[in-house]
Amino acid sequence: MTISFILNGEDVSLNARSYDRLADALREHFGLLGVKADCRRGVCGKCLILLDGRLAPSCLLPVFRVRGREVITIEGFSQTDEFADIMKGFAEAGLETCGFCDSGKILATAALLERQARPSAREILEEMASVPCRCTDPETMVKGVQAAAELKARRHYRRASQ
Ligand code: FES
Ligand code: FES
Repeated sequence: MTISFILNGEDVSLNARSYDRLADALREHFGLLGVKADCRRGVCGKCLILLDGRLAPSCLLPVFRVRGREVITIEGFSQTDEFADIMKGFAEAGLETCGFCDSGKILATAALLERQARPSAREILEEMASVPCRCTDPETMVKGVQAAAELKARRHYRRASQ
């Protein structure tokens, strides 16, 4: 079957079987290697993407489920102003990322800030639970996301007042 959807801002389509998973299609068909398929059970957070702005594990998603929808991977998101806000906020707070968790932490933050401009510590820790990382303490995680939220809010304010 042919599946058409929006991928990182572009209309795309591919032929897929009913059991094909989105993570594999993104890597193998579109060469988006920032999507990593590791546990394939929705646990490790390495394959996270934004699906219509919500965080989703692409290893569990059959490709046909994204028909007509919008998929954003870390490659696409890294071209946005929001990406710059998040990276700067993380750096200000000393929130580290590595090759295992970087795309998950960044996209989880993006999804949360899209729904909630000023998230509480509880909301942040709930959202970031999708990205297991034993090397970051909860306080730094909260500070990093709140710093990103502040930078995003300031940028929107500047844009609105121009
Ligand atoms: S590959 Fe681990 S959550 Fe998808
Ligand atoms: S900093 Fe990447 S898993 Fe903890």
